[in-house]
Amino acid sequence: NKSHIRRQHLKHNFSSVAVEPAEIDWDNLGFKFMPTDYMYMTKFYEGENFSKCELQRFGNIHLNPCAGILNYGQGLFEGLKAYRKHDGNILLFRPNENGLRLRMGAERMCMPCPSVEQFVEAVNATVLANERWIPPAGKGSLYIRPMLMGSGAVLGLAPSPEYTFLIYVSPVGNYFKEGLAPINLIVETVTPRATPGGTGGVKTIGNYAAVLKAQIAAKENGFSDVLYLDSVHKRYVEEVSACNVFVVKDHAISTPAINGTILPGITRKSIIDVARSQGFQVEERLVTVDELLDADEVFCTGTAVVISPVGSITYLGKRVTYESGGVGAVSQQLYSSLTNLQMGLAEDKLDWIVAL
Ligand code: COI
Repeated sequence: NKSHIRRQHLKHNFSSVAVEPAEIDWDNLGFKFMPTDYMYMTKFYEGENFSKCELQRFGNIHLNPCAGILNYGQGLFEGLKAYRKHDGNILLFRPNENGLRLRMGAERMCMPCPSVEQFVEAVNATVLANERWIPPAGKGSLYIRPMLMGSGAVLGLAPSPEYTFLIYVSPVGNYFKEGLAPINLIVETVTPRATPGGTGGVKTIGNYAAVLKAQIAAKENGFSDVLYLDSVHKRYVEEVSACNVFVVKDHAISTPAINGTILPGITRKSIIDVARSQGFQVEERLVTVDELLDADEVFCTGTAVVISPVGSITYLGKRVTYESGGVGAVSQQLYSSLTNLQMGLAEDKLDWIVAL
């Protein structure tokens, strides 16, 4: 049958076993890669005009073994999501912000970059081409992963002579295996995630491989993930491996200020605005580890994690729990406000939603 033939074809080209959307258990998606029909890919050179829509069947890509991304880590990625609304419309959340952040990162990593308009157009085209992989309303989202990489050969350390802009997508559900239940974090006191003057504030690929060692150790000890402190004083809260962090105390909300070592999350920025519009006092400032441990509620934000309440934090062998391990009222309220907006269930007063 058709699905069998398709699977044979896909097996030949891809490492993962392919499924058809009709075979997906939408209630148990998790955050695992699943190949879809199309990807966007275009190559370009410094100073050259970026070409238009380049969709092709999803599949492995060819790279020169000497490519800048493989040898010297000249690469950036983005993450955003498309939601299916109950009326069938497809909604994107602030895609222009991802386009802008990619441009900031490209400047730091010495790469030419598509304009924000070109970025958004490419995202839209990729989502529409893969429409059948967008989960039904309320069952998850289509995670969109744009990548910008130095794909030309460079042996001596230098910017790559050629660049590739690529977008692939995958249907996803909850990021953490805990689902929507609070996560348990451990504070890393030895290895920092980022250092002043480094690349912690841009979404470069190397920032993520660098945290795997601590993450694996944390998971082996039963924790969901790692929370990092600043590299100089080892006293100020920075972020979690794949998300930003917020603390709530006496109804006031604080999050580490963007200072070069913290990833400027689009969910982070959106939550600050949503919380302020609901009358919360929100401060972007230095947050000490003592304040973190003394907080009423702690939650994480990110495109992949959305808003994840934190149930406990372990620091130097001492475990502090929040809200008796349950979801705090502020985290719950902000989670509902944000997801209602993203799924088209609340009025989009700030013009953040793009309907395709
Ligand atoms: C995202 O939240 O989109 C990210 O890029 C984090 C990633 C490590 C899953």
